[in-house]
Amino acid sequence: MTKFEILQDKLEQAREGGGAHRVDKQHEKGKLTARERVHLLLDPGSFEEVGALVTHRTTDFDMQDQVFYGDGVVTGYGTITGRLVYVFAQDFTVFGGSLSETHAEKICKLMDMAVKTGAPLIGLNDSGGARIQEGVRSLGGYADIFYRNVQASGVIPQLSAIMGPCAGGAVYSPAMTDFTIMVEHTSYMFVTGPNVVKTVTNEEVTSEELGGASTHSTKSGVTHLTAANDVLCLKQLRALLSYLPQNCEEKPADLPYTLGTEVREELLGIVPENPNQPYDMREVIRGIIDPESFLEIHDRYAENIVVGFARLAGKSIGIIANQPYSLAGVLDVDSSKKAARFTRTCDCFNVPLLVLVDVPGFLPGTDQEWNGIITNGAKLLYALSEATVPRVTVITRKAYGGAYDVMNSKHIGADFNFAWPGAEIAVMGAKGASEIIFRREIKKAEDPAAKLAEKEAEYGEKFANPYRAAQRGFIDEVIYPQDTRRKLIRAFASLEGKVTVLPKKKHGNIPL
Ligand code: HXC
Repeated sequence: MTKFEILQDKLEQAREGGGAHRVDKQHEKGKLTARERVHLLLDPGSFEEVGALVTHRTTDFDMQDQVFYGDGVVTGYGTITGRLVYVFAQDFTVFGGSLSETHAEKICKLMDMAVKTGAPLIGLNDSGGARIQEGVRSLGGYADIFYRNVQASGVIPQLSAIMGPCAGGAVYSPAMTDFTIMVEHTSYMFVTGPNVVKTVTNEEVTSEELGGASTHSTKSGVTHLTAANDVLCLKQLRALLSYLPQNCEEKPADLPYTLGTEVREELLGIVPENPNQPYDMREVIRGIIDPESFLEIHDRYAENIVVGFARLAGKSIGIIANQPYSLAGVLDVDSSKKAARFTRTCDCFNVPLLVLVDVPGFLPGTDQEWNGIITNGAKLLYALSEATVPRVTVITRKAYGGAYDVMNSKHIGADFNFAWPGAEIAVMGAKGASEIIFRREIKKAEDPAAKLAEKEAEYGEKFANPYRAAQRGFIDEVIYPQDTRRKLIRAFASLEGKVTVLPKKKHGNIPL
């Protein structure tokens, strides 16, 4: 063979992965191969592979006789809509995509390159975990990746797709990245699998129930997004990236947009007259943002708060919004954690925040108190107080009690706070307030119910409106709903050059 033929032969072997029959097995499971995934993820023809000829160094268990080029992971760089990204895709056809010392080295090399060049890193996970034949060298490899995940956190966007098994300590790399997306029915994540669970706790549970996409998108919140199959998963990754910048020094790219009147009549009439009647805050979001631009994150987890990315006049923004449709939009443990995490993600990647408020307060009860609503509610308060990106609030209806403070009030550093005319900014609702402060009067009255109604109306007139807050400057402007989009476009435009200087410190101590 000539030297060129030798090279061609090796590259062909690398492309084959674990061989044709293993590729077929992957397809039978409804999964694409690592290379197919990389090519679908990236712009056509843009992939440059790095380390295709790497092999493992193990000789235990006669492993020297089982050598595959690439060693179970395809690594390299390419572009997504012209933007440089680094990508690794674990190749399940080679030792079940298990992580050897050299497999880990390939990923680490890529992570170092991504940080050096300030470009996002995307990991496509499909692996049986630590390469069992390599013992501690494999565990060390994982730790090398974990360490780099943390060093890169807040510097470059790190996105993880789970497209097959992801078990044991392996779950902690995706968990430390900015976003995780799971493919339905073909992926799962758990620290200990069903067999160990059965041995230790006697619970019988399937892999899907324990750690499938449905479980992690509804019960645990471990995954931010789910996709019906590999193709849609890769498409979602591309979409997600479009809202994020290359790194923490840059802003997300704008889409072209020509300003019009920006009045949106559909925003009138979404909030019902009756303050106890729910409505869908997503309708308000859709009325404000550019058409079809909402990418909701964690859409089935802690549904009493809605978070996601959108575009406003072509610019990427993050939205946090109480959802009156679910638990009346109350703040609880899970919704506070969800919104706090999203706040920090937006803040580290220079995505301005829009907060839409309709919140009756924090959820009462032993369940909430014993699960730490104090610490968890504080996470959201802390994250918003700390965020230096442009921050704008619109109160659509209720802003009661401590939740008024927490939901991006002026007092914790919001830049512009607007309220719709029907907003009620008060310590609590008129009924609850009247029952407490006029208790004696109501008790003594001939008709206590009529008295309560009278007092409720009196209190409502005085406090259940946005004007007291506007008089104090806590609300910058009371606006008509149909003008909201126009006001927000201008407010965010005015904040483009915002600079905030924080006190010098090593790092804050968010109540984790
Ligand atoms: C080496 C592995 C492997 C592993 C799978 N393979 N996992 N080889 N190390 N961890 C090999 C199999 O031997 C098999 O090789 C091929 O990959 C495909 O695996 P199958 O079992 O045929 O596939 P499937 O039926 O789809 O099952 C997938 C699986 C199962 C559920 C992932 O392979 C499995 O349970 N693997 C072990 C998982 C595990 O316990 N990993 C360690 C977790 S602890 P052949 O040649 O037969 O086709 C861990 C610690 C990390 O990861 C700590 C970090 C701090």
